[in-house]
Amino acid sequence: MEPRSASPRRGCVPWLGLLLTASLLALWPPPVTAQLTIESVPPNAAEGQTVVLKAHNQPPNAELYRWYKGETTEESHRLGAFSTSSNQSTPGPAHSGRETIREDGSLLFQSVTVNDTGVYTLDILERDFASKRASGRFQVFAKLPKPFITSNNSSPMEGEDSVELTCDPETENTNYQWWINGQSLPNDTRLHLSPDNRILTLFHVTRNDMGPYECGTWNLVSDNRSDPFTLNVSYGPDIPIISPPSSYFGQGTNLSLSCHTASNPPAQYSWLFNERPQSSTPALFIPNITVNHSGSYACFAYNSVTGLNSTTVKNIIVLEPVTQPSIQASNTTVTEQQSVVLTCHSTDPGITIRWLFNEQSLPLTTRTKLSKDNSTLSIDPVRREDSGEYRCEVSNPVSSRKSNPLRLDVNYDPTQSSSDLSPGAIAGIVVGVVAGVALIAALAYFLYSRKTGGASNQRDLTEHKPSASSHSK
Ligand SMILES: *[C@@H]1O[C@H](CO)[C@@H](O)[C@H](O)[C@H]1NC(C)=O
Ligand SMILES: *[C@@H]1O[C@H](CO)[C@@H](O)[C@H](O)[C@H]1NC(C)=O
Ligand SMILES: *[C@@H]1O[C@H](CO)[C@@H](O)[C@H](O)[C@H]1NC(C)=O
Ligand SMILES: *[C@@H]1O[C@H](CO)[C@@H](O)[C@H](O)[C@H]1NC(C)=O
Ligand SMILES: *[C@@H]1O[C@H](CO)[C@@H](O)[C@H](O)[C@H]1NC(C)=O
Ligand SMILES: *[C@@H]1O[C@H](CO)[C@@H](O)[C@H](O)[C@H]1NC(C)=O
Ligand SMILES: *[C@@H]1O[C@H](CO)[C@@H](O)[C@H](O)[C@H]1NC(C)=O
Ligand SMILES: *[C@@H]1O[C@H](CO)[C@@H](O)[C@H](O)[C@H]1NC(C)=O
Ligand SMILES: *[C@@H]1O[C@H](CO)[C@@H](O)[C@H](O)[C@H]1NC(C)=O
Ligand SMILES: *[C@@H]1O[C@H](CO)[C@@H](O)[C@H](O)[C@H]1NC(C)=O
Ligand SMILES: *[C@@H]1O[C@H](CO)[C@@H](O)[C@H](O)[C@H]1NC(C)=O
Ligand SMILES: *[C@@H]1O[C@H](CO)[C@@H](O)[C@H](O)[C@H]1NC(C)=O
Repeated sequence: MEPRSASPRRGCVPWLGLLLTASLLALWPPPVTAQLTIESVPPNAAEGQTVVLKAHNQPPNAELYRWYKGETTEESHRLGAFSTSSNQSTPGPAHSGRETIREDGSLLFQSVTVNDTGVYTLDILERDFASKRASGRFQVFAKLPKPFITSNNSSPMEGEDSVELTCDPETENTNYQWWINGQSLPNDTRLHLSPDNRILTLFHVTRNDMGPYECGTWNLVSDNRSDPFTLNVSYGPDIPIISPPSSYFGQGTNLSLSCHTASNPPAQYSWLFNERPQSSTPALFIPNITVNHSGSYACFAYNSVTGLNSTTVKNIIVLEPVTQPSIQASNTTVTEQQSVVLTCHSTDPGITIRWLFNEQSLPLTTRTKLSKDNSTLSIDPVRREDSGEYRCEVSNPVSSRKSNPLRLDVNYDPTQSSSDLSPGAIAGIVVGVVAGVALIAALAYFLYSRKTGGASNQRDLTEHKPSASSHSK
């Protein structure tokens, strides 16, 4: 009981404000109660939804509710009526079958369509035959259909064409948005949007503009998004790349070259050997090649849509594998201090020569000398450590062969040994001389000590002490 009596009193102050405003504006005769208002729930609806038009601040003694389409009470626009005393509603001439008037006077509108957008009027007849009237409106938005992207050029050419992408269909009260590669539009002067964002223009498309593109639509009640659209930009061919990169191939091997270039649509390839057409495939295969296959190989790439072509030429040299070299020495048994010359014999052209000593790369010293083409190796003078197995290895870009090993023996020459000392011998002598000098010095001191006598030893020590301490100061 208490809350009921309390609530009107609490709501007193806003009422006064309303009253004051209403009377000041003098639009309406001064009402006794708050003004009847209509609220649409929701105010904006998507097609197919249910909308309720609620009546607020109703008079307490309502007898008959009548709803009309439009800001009117013309009979032809009446949707229906509801009598509170009989608790019964009757449809009006404008009834579409989707409207229901509830007991509380609100209008329930099911499955709204865009055409239902507009104003609705409620007329309340009171028991004392007074009447109250109010209008409210709601807007129905179409559920946005899935948009799709159209291009004004289905295969634009890189660097030449500008393209207009349009987000269709065009619908009212719709906002448009674009994405490239799933990202919102980058800051690029080559991109331009129409004021309504529906048309995206790409100036001078490149292969990086292929997308995919998506467009999105949204209004107050719904949104939708197109399928990704890929722009088929024609480009290329770029300069073809021939692989493998090597220029040298061994005779008897298979020559397998492949050519690749960036191109849309994919390039048509053809090969030319010394300007004579070969296969029309990206790969060229010639088994068991001979030196006669040396020459210029050209890969020609052509794009029939752009009409452009591009060619790469590669010079290939087919080499016979090198034959085994032979090795010869001026003398395989030499004595220290003599010299020796080793020669590597090969008849193959265009080779490089490398020397091996005991299966390792030959270390070069001041005593070893190679000819300009490495074919002769001179060792002057030879030493015993030069004894061992020598080989030479000849290589061309496709093969390499080693000679059979040649054994060099260096003999010790006893007549030369005293004048030619090894570093070890020199060290031995130095140590010996130092030891000898030290021995003589020790002996001299011993003899001197003996001469001056044992007593002087004591004095010597005491005399030395102060001098040592004065040094430290
Ligand atoms: C009015 O009728 C409805 C059914 O049509 C019923 O549910 C409701 O209780 C009735 N109300 C009164 C006050 O009789
Ligand atoms: C809306 O009204 C127009 C013209 O009055 C009509 O052509 C259209 O079919 C209507 N749409 C719906 C969904 O009722
Ligand atoms: C987009 O529209 C299609 C029909 O055009 C509909 O089936 C789909 O549910 C809509 N998607 C969204 C997110 O509204
Ligand atoms: C497509 O639109 C762009 C930009 O408006 C224009 O430059 C181009 O000529 C159009 N292409 C075609 C094939 O109409
Ligand atoms: C785009 O560029 C303009 C001027 O060039 C700059 O003012 C703006 O901040 C940039 N926007 C973004 C998102 O980088
Ligand atoms: C791109 O356009 C070219 C030329 O019109 C066509 O040959 C090619 O099939 C298209 N590619 C795709 C993926 O649609
Ligand atoms: C060279 O090609 C032939 C077929 O023409 C093949 O039988 C052979 O195995 C290939 N040789 C090499 C080294 O790939
Ligand atoms: C390769 O060609 C040579 C002659 O050019 C021939 O003697 C040899 O049998 C061929 N080898 C193969 C595997 O066909
Ligand atoms: C290379 O071609 C010449 C003639 O052009 C021919 O005499 C020679 O036999 C060919 N050599 C090989 C290995 O096929
Ligand atoms: C290749 O393109 C050049 C121009 O870049 C043209 O002169 C030539 O005729 C083209 N060649 C072929 C075979 O299409
Ligand atoms: C090789 O050298 C040894 C010793 O120096 C000598 O006896 C011999 O005659 C030489 N042989 C030749 C072929 O010069
Ligand atoms: C000579 O041998 C050295 C190292 O052993 C090598 O770097 C060089 O390329 C060789 N030169 C020739 C002409 O064979």
